[in-house]
Amino acid sequence: MFLKQIEERLLSELDPHVKLVLETGRYIVEAGGKRLRPLFTVLSCGMCGGKPEDALPLGVGLEYIHVASLLHDDVVDGASKRRGRDSANLVFGDEVAVLTGDYMYAKALHLFSTYGTQLMIKIVSQAVMDMAQAQVLELTKVGEIISEEEYFQIIDGKTAVLFGSCFAVGGLKGGCSNWEKLFEIGLRIGRAFQLIDDLLDYIGDPSKTGKPVGNDLKEGKSTYPLLCVLEKMDKEFVENILSKPEPTDEEIERLRKEVLNLGGGEETKNRAKREIQEAKNLLKTFPENEFKREILKLVDFVVERNL
Ligand code: FPP
Ligand code: MG
Repeated sequence: MFLKQIEERLLSELDPHVKLVLETGRYIVEAGGKRLRPLFTVLSCGMCGGKPEDALPLGVGLEYIHVASLLHDDVVDGASKRRGRDSANLVFGDEVAVLTGDYMYAKALHLFSTYGTQLMIKIVSQAVMDMAQAQVLELTKVGEIISEEEYFQIIDGKTAVLFGSCFAVGGLKGGCSNWEKLFEIGLRIGRAFQLIDDLLDYIGDPSKTGKPVGNDLKEGKSTYPLLCVLEKMDKEFVENILSKPEPTDEEIERLRKEVLNLGGGEETKNRAKREIQEAKNLLKTFPENEFKREILKLVDFVVERNL
């Protein structure tokens, strides 16, 4: 439902007149993705009683923000792969990747100024401020064991607030004024999404995720699967590997396997399920209709994907 319209609009709104910006923008958009953000935006609008199509350019704007953040993130991380293919920074260079990210972000704001409201712009710009800050926070914690509180601060900022914005913006467009409640629903779903993303770093099939397992550990990032079993582990052993600039593959494998043996994978999946349950509870107060049913299907997909 709506996927075809989203794909078409994602390409048709992309209209830079400098050829290289167009080429880079198309490259990252055409690399695909699940389009969860625009889907949640149009479905939230429909669920709240609006015409879902009215929220389409706003959903597209939110996907552009996501794409812009990935372009920048891959430069920051020095990544060479994205969505199973060479990353844009590898193909076009860091400078072009960053500047195309700037273009996509500004394009999103432009769409919001045409089809949105001041309140929507406030919600979305706050989300982007949170994203940038969470990324910096994550950077400063590389090589360290972090607290669960810090972990949730990071994932709420880097992922969940944008999902929150999708629900809030869609709902506002659909005529619902209780956008805070919708934001909370998206926040919970986004949290679950990132928890599963972090779990896939431990157990995912690289041919489906497009990334090798153990990548986060290799980069010195401590995520929920590790943090939730940390009490049962030798902290010094963990810290030693995390802080190494170039840990060996054997060290990463040892750490990864130990986390899984101690139940870190199951516990992460359970935590994601609890977040989803809370989102579903909050959704109960919204009207029952085909759009809500579609949201619920997508929400289950968030937890089950690639597992
Ligand atoms: C991927 O995380 C990165 C994000 C989800 C957010 C990145 C946000 C910014 C760079 C700031 C906002 C900037 C703009 C222009 C909107 P990850 O590295 O954990 O995931 P990955 O494995 O997919 O790279
Ligand atoms: Mg990254």
